Amino acid sequence: MQTPLVALITGANKGIGLAIARSLAAKGLAVLVGARDLALGEAAAASIGGTARAIALDVTSPLSIAAAAAAIRREVGRLAVLVNNAGIARAGGPPSSAALDEARAVFETNVLGVIAVTQAMLPLLREAPAGRIVNVSSSLGSLTVIGAPGSPWPGVAGVAYGPSKAALNAVTIAFAHELADTAIKVNAACPGYTATDLTGHRGPRTALQAAREPVRLALLADDGPTGGFTNEDGPLPW
Ligand SMILES: NC(=O)c1ccc[n+]([C@@H]2O[C@H](COP(=O)([O-])OP(=O)(O)OC[C@H]3O[C@@H](n4cnc5c(N)ncnc54)[C@H](OP(=O)(O)O)[C@@H]3O)[C@@H](O)[C@H]2O)c1
Repeated sequence: MQTPLVALITGANKGIGLAIARSLAAKGLAVLVGARDLALGEAAAASIGGTARAIALDVTSPLSIAAAAAAIRREVGRLAVLVNNAGIARAGGPPSSAALDEARAVFETNVLGVIAVTQAMLPLLREAPAGRIVNVSSSLGSLTVIGAPGSPWPGVAGVAYGPSKAALNAVTIAFAHELADTAIKVNAACPGYTATDLTGHRGPRTALQAAREPVRLALLADDGPTGGFTNEDGPLPW
């Protein structure tokens, strides 16, 4: 029997991350359900069943990231897929009154967390024949979308969430550029407006629908693109 490919999904104890983990498991991958609260991760992994396992991972904690990378190195030795899904939305409302500590927390999780986790997991991705990194972004990070004349989106994007996803898109390009000569592909996906805790359960899409594009990018063939930003309908403007 072939050893299953292993995928790590951050923030996978609920919402879109859990749906991505569930979908990748259904495609035959062994999923590591990243969760900053291990008990929640274990419950999520149990709900997926099969070979799904929880792993403690707080993307804002260097110690937690290092421990997770060491555990994966020890127990698996390589990583085929990394989905940087964990994200938070705070400091909404008018830019002039946004709380700076909340804005800082958003960047810490949505941008620096992705850089730190990717750096820590890259040696494991290099061990796989064809590593895939997927960054879960948002069309609110598209300067073209929010900057269009008459666009209603600047008010939603705010000074923290939207800008953090714009930075994440740039981070995606930066890693894709560095890894262009390797078998590792790095892409950003917008899952669409989805009913989860993050949106107060507003949004027309289900988490399973939202998972489709991240899952497609996680399973890209060797001739697939790198350094892109897409949703289910195709390429998105930066
Ligand atoms: N929902 C949408 O409409 C939408 C649209 C575009 C993009 N997105 C993006 O999709 C991703 C998932 O969002 P969601 O809607 O599924 O939100 P969600 O239901 O609130 O789930 C967010 C996940 O991230 C985890 N997380 C937060 N901070 C973390 C940290 N420091 N370390 C590890 N995990 C952490 C949460 O863990 P806890 O349970 O411990 O808090 C949770 O598992 C985010 O990147 C979001 O920006 C969502």
